[in-house]
Amino acid sequence: MTDTAARSAARGAANQAGARIDRDAYAKAGDFLPLQGIDHIEFWVGNARQASAYYRALWGFSPVAFSGLETKVRDRASYVMVQNGIRLVLTAPLTPDGEIAEHVRAHGDGVHDIAFAVDDVEAAWRATTERGAVSALAPTELDGGADGVLRKASIRTYGETLHSFVDRSAYHGAFAPGYRRVKASAAAAGGLSLLEVDHCVGNVALGEMDRSVAFYRDVMGFSQLIHYDDKVIHTDYSALMSKVMTNGNGRIKFPINEPATGKKRSQIQEYLDWYGSRGCQHIALRTEDIVGTVRRLRDNGVEFLGLPHEYYATLAERVGDVGVPIDTLEELGIEADRDEEGYLLQIFTRPVQDRPTFFFEIIERHGSRGFGVGNFKALFEAIEREQAKRGNL
Ligand code: FE2
Repeated sequence: MTDTAARSAARGAANQAGARIDRDAYAKAGDFLPLQGIDHIEFWVGNARQASAYYRALWGFSPVAFSGLETKVRDRASYVMVQNGIRLVLTAPLTPDGEIAEHVRAHGDGVHDIAFAVDDVEAAWRATTERGAVSALAPTELDGGADGVLRKASIRTYGETLHSFVDRSAYHGAFAPGYRRVKASAAAAGGLSLLEVDHCVGNVALGEMDRSVAFYRDVMGFSQLIHYDDKVIHTDYSALMSKVMTNGNGRIKFPINEPATGKKRSQIQEYLDWYGSRGCQHIALRTEDIVGTVRRLRDNGVEFLGLPHEYYATLAERVGDVGVPIDTLEELGIEADRDEEGYLLQIFTRPVQDRPTFFFEIIERHGSRGFGVGNFKALFEAIEREQAKRGNL
């Protein structure tokens, strides 16, 4: 099949399936909340020291900052891990009481804060709280002494998840006041090229999608980029709906998922049952070398969802040339999809903690700004096979 034929086939399939794409979404997004990008993502976990070793040894992140007893912080330990433009903060409680211990008890390990880099924390907090956001932290200057001040504020989004606004322009220390720099004692795993956060997906409960979409539209000034209805995203057993919200410069992309009724329990419902509330389901990390990166991740012990041979048997026909032999994609379990703008390659990990909740996606984009709608069915069937093994389907 030629590229053009593949493209129009993909377009036809997407239209027929009920995916509605708004190409003007970026232009429509409000400009009252300029976001420079994602500053960091903070996970609240049971054991931050061990989590940091996992991200170093398997995922190639380097530890850059630490906060805990040795820095006179007595209620929590935090490790800041960096790879290119991705900054993860892993925080665990040091005491049985308090919000972190409570969060871990209720949810297991999970995403606590998706923080944005902004130029003006006060303006971002004011613009969103005036529009109805619930404040979690009023604008605050964290005093770093000779290192300057870090400005921060936070608002609440779905479940117990926060969005912080961070301004580092007047701060020159390690991650934040209360942290010290870390000299890497062991080298991070090499050969990985994870570049930046591509998108962060939130799961909300049945009937709550529109409330969450309205929050990102009315409170954050985002616009709706894509709507996938449950006619697109369904298998024999389960279904879900998804709407993708984006900000004005397109750097932030937040798909929101809601379970739809099917014959059995959808993967979204499984997440909600085990996380115990709405929350962040997965984060996609962008790479420009998905083949090399996934090969290295697999060698290091990261586990991915597997797709059946049938998926690859018809893939070339559906997506045309994607620059990687289909055999290689199959060997590594990488999926491909094409739309009218180009193509993408993607793969999904198994959950990265004991509960069947949060996982990662690795994505390589070649023009496509989509999310792999052509793979949804095969992907969800793969997830359902895993759900069945867990007794959760
Ligand atoms: Fe995704």
